[in-house]
Amino acid sequence: MDLGIEGRAALVTGASKGLGFGVAQTLAAEGARVAISSRSQERIERAAHTIGARAYVHDGADVDGAAGLIARVERDLGSLDILVTNSGGPPASPDAMSFSAQQWRTAYELLTLGQLELVKAALPGMRRRGWGRILSLSSSVVREPSSVLVLSSSHRAALLAALKTISTQVAGDGVTVNTLLPGLIDTDRIRELGAGSPDRLAEIPAGRIGTVAEFAAAAAFLCSAPAAYITGTTLLVDGGALHSV
Ligand SMILES: NC(=O)c1ccc[n+]([C@@H]2O[C@H](COP(=O)([O-])OP(=O)(O)OC[C@H]3O[C@@H](n4cnc5c(N)ncnc54)[C@H](OP(=O)(O)O)[C@@H]3O)[C@@H](O)[C@H]2O)c1
Repeated sequence: MDLGIEGRAALVTGASKGLGFGVAQTLAAEGARVAISSRSQERIERAAHTIGARAYVHDGADVDGAAGLIARVERDLGSLDILVTNSGGPPASPDAMSFSAQQWRTAYELLTLGQLELVKAALPGMRRRGWGRILSLSSSVVREPSSVLVLSSSHRAALLAALKTISTQVAGDGVTVNTLLPGLIDTDRIRELGAGSPDRLAEIPAGRIGTVAEFAAAAAFLCSAPAAYITGTTLLVDGGALHSV
């Protein structure tokens, strides 16, 4: 299938490695002109070099810097057609009440407000031009809250609800807004959280952890021209792990 995104300008945040990097790599392979961002200049430049992308330093929790990032990318690449929002995850704990109010606020800025501000900055141009793709990289915990990731489950659910509302208000302008829900995909974060244990794998009907390439293929489709009539939706990429329909 021709994804129809050759020459389109795309920004993927939180993309020096893992899911974000995989999505950026796939968009670049499809001919998009790709910008990527993360917190570390050294890491993001190294990643950009390997896929022929442009590198930008931006912390996803920098709510006030979001519009500036979009402006910098548009100055260099021209009008933005595709925005994929991603960041690192918040801390985990088996005790949902162990987080301070400040930790809740910090996680909210990273997972909800910071990403919302990127979307708000990118949308007016996309709507004017009559074409745009917004894709939020979220987590299956918005459907089934994790026992150890209360910050992630809560704040990602808030962003999801906001994006659903926004999607209805921009659909008539040729802009789609969708969310991907990874289950267990093989990245450094999953290894660091020790989430790929044999017990967890036994709960996944596919019998294995997913690959970044499998996740990125779903992302690229939702960013494509043929996906024009898919908006306001979520797609699980979890090997069948969630039991609900
Ligand atoms: N992998 C999975 O199966 C899975 C499942 C559910 C949800 N998720 C979520 O998906 C996101 C990506 O996960 P991953 O597995 O790809 O993690 P990863 O391998 O640890 O990669 C995280 C990426 O995000 C960047 N990053 C971290 N904190 C950032 C911040 N504050 N601002 C901007 N960039 C930041 C990192 O780059 P720098 O260090 O250079 O900033 C890195 O490029 C996380 O939010 C995670 O919780 C992943």
